[in-house]
Amino acid sequence: MGCIYKDKTRTVAERVNDLLERMTLEEKIGQMMQISFTSVSRKEAEEWVTERCAGSFLHTLGDDARHLQKLALSTRLGIPLLFGIDAVRGHALHNGATIFPTQLAMACSWNPELIRMAGRVTAREVSADGLHWTFSPILCLGRDLRWGRINETFGEDPYLTGVLAASIIQGYQGDSLSDADSILACAKHYIAYGEGTGGRDAYDSQISIRKVREVFLPPFRKAVEARCATFMSSYQSIDGTPVTANKKVLRKLLKDELGFEGFVVTDWDNTLSLIVNQHVAGDMETAARKAVEAGNDMIMNTNAFYDAALKLAGEGVIPVELIDDAVRRILKMKFELGLFDGKAYTQPGTNTDAIGCEEHLAVALDLTRECIVLLENRNNTLPLAEMVKKIAVIGPNADNIQSQFGDWTFLSHPTPKPHEVPKLPVRTFLSGIMELAEKRGISVTYHRGCDIMNKDDEDIAGAVECASTADVVIAVVGDCLEQNGEYKDRADLALSGSQQKLLESLKQCGKPLIVILVNGKPLAIPWVAKNADAVLETFNSGLFGGKAAAEIIFGEVNPSGKLPISFPYHSGQLPVYYNHLPGWHGGRYMDMPEKPLYSFGYGLSFTSYEYSNLHLSHTACSADDTVTVSVDVTNKGPYDGKETVQLYVKDVISSVVTPVKQLKGFMKTEIKSGETKTVKIDLPVRELFIIDENENQVVEPGEFEILVGPDSRDESLLKAVLTVV
Ligand code: BGC
Repeated sequence: MGCIYKDKTRTVAERVNDLLERMTLEEKIGQMMQISFTSVSRKEAEEWVTERCAGSFLHTLGDDARHLQKLALSTRLGIPLLFGIDAVRGHALHNGATIFPTQLAMACSWNPELIRMAGRVTAREVSADGLHWTFSPILCLGRDLRWGRINETFGEDPYLTGVLAASIIQGYQGDSLSDADSILACAKHYIAYGEGTGGRDAYDSQISIRKVREVFLPPFRKAVEARCATFMSSYQSIDGTPVTANKKVLRKLLKDELGFEGFVVTDWDNTLSLIVNQHVAGDMETAARKAVEAGNDMIMNTNAFYDAALKLAGEGVIPVELIDDAVRRILKMKFELGLFDGKAYTQPGTNTDAIGCEEHLAVALDLTRECIVLLENRNNTLPLAEMVKKIAVIGPNADNIQSQFGDWTFLSHPTPKPHEVPKLPVRTFLSGIMELAEKRGISVTYHRGCDIMNKDDEDIAGAVECASTADVVIAVVGDCLEQNGEYKDRADLALSGSQQKLLESLKQCGKPLIVILVNGKPLAIPWVAKNADAVLETFNSGLFGGKAAAEIIFGEVNPSGKLPISFPYHSGQLPVYYNHLPGWHGGRYMDMPEKPLYSFGYGLSFTSYEYSNLHLSHTACSADDTVTVSVDVTNKGPYDGKETVQLYVKDVISSVVTPVKQLKGFMKTEIKSGETKTVKIDLPVRELFIIDENENQVVEPGEFEILVGPDSRDESLLKAVLTVV
């Protein structure tokens, strides 16, 4: 008689139960272990598989993964390994794979469908490499711009983050997890990780559970609804309780209340962190017990957990039901993924043609075109006029692949490798501009001008000389890898090194000055905003940033990106997110403007759009209704374009203080020059919820302002009133 767990015709639940019954306690705890391939020797890695039945590895690629999988399949029960990888913007730790813009840049597209396709491409490339699981998407909110990981977020807004997260999860996981090219997604870092006080990474988030529910939970709730297979618990503490040990937010809120059926993996060595960083456990046994009780199912890279948990579970200190629940969740995902049915192992070379293939690169290019935001365009400087015959491209990020790529690619992980040569063709801003200029008989000169970090490394005079003979100057400035990522929180968001001096000197040449920003996150650039003739924000755009920017500069593409995050005038103005609370006396610092430099949702086009006829399908409704909001948008300019219509809501009177406005819907649509389109957005009234003082999610009766327009600024929005009865 064959085993039930090996029988494909049985249900996943039957197979999981059968396998669990056959497992020893050692094998169960083994399944809870995720081993970092780069942190152990090859021999140790093999022993984790053959002697302790480890459940998962991370950061293993290609032949190494295949080797370990073969070992796993030959153990007593033959439980396949699950391989995880940080494929957070394509399978980008693999040189040769398609590299997408960072999540922050992707979010500028406001295009859920293109982001879903990016997820699909990633899943195909990761699975072609024999791996099964990406630690993506990141659902942290980018609200304090000093935080080093802003580049990894979809921006500052819970609603936009939730919608884009659901799209990319759908892309990763496909129609069915068992499809050959589907992988597990991981919603991380659960929860409120970006909210470390002072923008400090992994530091305490001084917020209440009410605030967690109101602001930080909604995107994760959308991830659960999108059937995201795994969640990662975050590094930081919330009001003093580390999330790794936080039963309230993990076991109770996520698992019991939201009904999450997948498994939770800790973040990197988080169980040890309870001892050495957060000091809430004096030894590994206490840390292991707290981590399991809180609701973590898989332990990333704290290998000492194994012995401690085995001892405690043997003594009954950790109830075996908790261990069984964790292992059941892990096995469930392994079965659903099809690992027991032939998907565990890919033959070398199978499907590897998919990695970095033409079709995938085309998706990356399409998305990148929509990720660029036109922030300024005085006197229609862009697209470039036909009389331009000579362009000077200046600046430290003009021809700098590492800055352009940003974090989490093979150039940056596990250690920065600035000189590794990309296997796929990359367009830097310089090469992208040169390519299109050449076709038009325009000459291009280049000078680096200065360094980003080092003030002594500059040749401003040389740059000015290069610029002085040109018809226009394109300055490519911003930040660099050293200023973004984990351990790289910044107190000062001004342009670093001699970049400000470089720009001011270039301005004095008297030529039109176009600034391209290449940066991990919004910088404080009031001088640029005021003095540049045109500004393009590209963030970290991946393989095709230079090509897409050049297409915009020469008018081949009409920009359609909008900011998913607000820009400050100055770091001291932080936080500047648009959905802030009312009540601040004076509403501003006395020495700072009251508005952000650039607002959430903002972005220009070569054409202009006029909004009119805001209409609600009904003006009085109950909490279970859906109201259809419609508005006419007319393209008044000479270019066809894509516009993102944004719907905000303001709760006029509420029992707790609520934000001045909140995004609750959006739609990106193509509108031809001269055309008027009626755009309809459904607003489920349950989206108008608040979290009341007792932490209940309720829709309170009363009036709500429905605000529709091209960005979040008051002056941009048409208004109607909806009454909830
Ligand atoms: C990061 C996670 C990442 C993990 C594995 C951690 O340091 O916080 O985002 O998935 O490492 O690389």
